Amino acid sequence: MSSNSPQSNQKPDLDETINVTQAHGRVASESAATAREHRIADNGHEPISLWVIVACGVVLLIGGGVLGNVTSWFDYQALVKPNYVRGVPEGAENTGPVAKEALAAYSTKGQKVYTAVGCSGCHGPDGRGGAAAPSLAGSAWVTGNTQKLSMIILNGLKGPTSTGKDYGVMGAIGANLKPDELAAVMTYVRNGFGNSTSDVVSIEMAQAAKDASAKRDAPGSSLTSDELMAKHNQMLPGVALEPTTKVDPVKLTPVP
Ligand code: HEC
Repeated sequence: MSSNSPQSNQKPDLDETINVTQAHGRVASESAATAREHRIADNGHEPISLWVIVACGVVLLIGGGVLGNVTSWFDYQALVKPNYVRGVPEGAENTGPVAKEALAAYSTKGQKVYTAVGCSGCHGPDGRGGAAAPSLAGSAWVTGNTQKLSMIILNGLKGPTSTGKDYGVMGAIGANLKPDELAAVMTYVRNGFGNSTSDVVSIEMAQAAKDASAKRDAPGSSLTSDELMAKHNQMLPGVALEPTTKVDPVKLTPVP
């Protein structure tokens, strides 16, 4: 730098405190590093090679062509067995349970009530009774007038039984039975254990029994044979069901 140059008033860096070559070198290497960092930050977003795009296009073309040609893969007819007719289960038109004859339906449900309420625990699953409870098989009060039997089930019994023998006390075991359950258990004991009255106590009759029981002076207290004979030695009002009437096996109501 000559002393008569326009910038002569600026002092030349005689001491050369800045090594220009070195300084440039540092700037160059730093900017290279920055560029590298940028590339690393782009990871995953690098532009795809043209060859990859072309290869994908070829695969799509071939695949599409194959799928388009083999129409049988998607042919509904190919999956149908010839002359196939879907089977219809018996009674399928009737969505409810299959109707049963009244005597069978009431007895089946009655047996369940007999066990569930606990009759079987005292009188035995075979109804033959024992030392603690009388036999229901062949009992005159089981096969006799329905109102007498219903009163024993709803209120219990104390004192002499139908045979004159006194077993102690039976409580109001069936007090909470619903009319259909009472009708069912009565029908069961009247036609089970070798008994055969061949009648079906209707729900209507069982409801009448519950009404008569509620009208007692002391509903729920065990009856004596005297009270039974004086007030309840009769058939229940209402019509018994024909044993062959078709009924709903669960609700026990007649079906058309
Ligand atoms: C806890 C035991 C016990 C249970 C449960 C019980 N009983 Fe009794 N049952 C007796 C006893 C005891 C007698 C006799 C009472 C007496 O000597 O006065 C009796 C009497 C009877 C009699 C009178 C029989 C006759 O010939 O005199 C009938 C009918 C009867 N029970 C039906 C039933 C039915 C139906 C059920 C279920 C709903 C039932 N019992 C549940 C203990 C029981």
